[in-house]
Amino acid sequence: MSDNLPRRQVLRTAGAIGLSAAAAGALQQTASATSSTSSSASEGIGHGRLEISKKVFGRTPAGEQVDVYTFTNGRVTISMLTWGATLQRIETPDRRGRKKNISLGFDNLEDYAALSPYFGSTVGRYGNRIAKGQFTLDGKTYQLPINNGPNSLHGGTIGFDKKVWQAKVVRTDTAIGVTFTYVSPDGEMGYPGKLTSTVTYTLDKANRLNIDYHAVTDKATVLNLTNHVYFNLGGEGSGSIDDHILQLNAPAYTPVDATLIPTGQIAPVTGTPFDFRRPTAIGARIRDDHPQLVIGRGYDHNFVLGEAGKDGVRLAARAWEPDSGRSVTVHTTEPGVQVYTGNFLDGSFQGIGGKSYRQGDAFCLETQHFPDSPNHPNFPSTVLRPGQTFRSTTTFTFGTI
Ligand code: BGC
Repeated sequence: MSDNLPRRQVLRTAGAIGLSAAAAGALQQTASATSSTSSSASEGIGHGRLEISKKVFGRTPAGEQVDVYTFTNGRVTISMLTWGATLQRIETPDRRGRKKNISLGFDNLEDYAALSPYFGSTVGRYGNRIAKGQFTLDGKTYQLPINNGPNSLHGGTIGFDKKVWQAKVVRTDTAIGVTFTYVSPDGEMGYPGKLTSTVTYTLDKANRLNIDYHAVTDKATVLNLTNHVYFNLGGEGSGSIDDHILQLNAPAYTPVDATLIPTGQIAPVTGTPFDFRRPTAIGARIRDDHPQLVIGRGYDHNFVLGEAGKDGVRLAARAWEPDSGRSVTVHTTEPGVQVYTGNFLDGSFQGIGGKSYRQGDAFCLETQHFPDSPNHPNFPSTVLRPGQTFRSTTTFTFGTI
């Protein structure tokens, strides 16, 4: 596995998450377990030329044009929409070189607008939930739209996933991709401050999809940007991900109440079905009689990641599918990752390959600050103030085992 990430300055770092010595020790074990599993792995190198093309994908009801950009290194091919800066397709080879799209999505804009549970979306302003859609900042209370039970989810009713982003191609000697920009007006979805977000998705020759987030505001605000790609490494529409193996560099997680709002507790994973420090099949314990799995209908939880290196980057996760051998490794500057096993997919619509998606047909690894952080002073802060620059980086590395 390649840890050779570009060094980046993270202006807003994770902050103290107060892990115990036991948790830190477990983390070390995870790190060595991770490097031993990775020694037999091959990430491969894209030997082809870096290429990018653009086509019209559709039009919004308001007449705005939505484009699809497709970029490749000859081995991995990514398609992205200007709608929601959405990862529409990720095509990667299996261990015998057979390529498949490993990300859930649609082939038309209407389905993204009407049906998508954030398939591949860039999510903002605030990934995951804010309790009752309320938070208080500098003595003022803000009310956000309620769109998930009693809470506000993924930035409200019309979040960044439902906006058309400006796109600009970026190309270097070693990487190709697109920079997406969206300017959210002061007060949009109830959030204070005009927020300018720039998210650059680049694919390099080592099969790394780098996602670099950058944001500035003109008033104090909160934000939590992420990408909501749903993976099935056997190919989208190929059925359950129960047999996928997952490893998380996470000694703790944040338990939730019945509405999926964190209780505020940072709970060690030891002895629970949330312990993925050693590689474990996602389905191995998903049906266990654990109250948190009942509440989530499976995994739908924020995991507290191990400490970052000097460059601010931490290994978050690794997953692979034993039959095809396809793997994905996640590095991030974010302190958490939401592991979501597609629990609310109910087979009621068909995806890009014509197959319906059912519960447990995909998993998400949404790198993030913790859900509902504005209401939990013990969580790393999600506040951004004028004059500060928000930067965050997540890298998905595609390979085979
Ligand atoms: C949330 C889930 C939600 C899903 C799709 C995840 O980030 O944690 O509860 O159903 O997104 O909206």
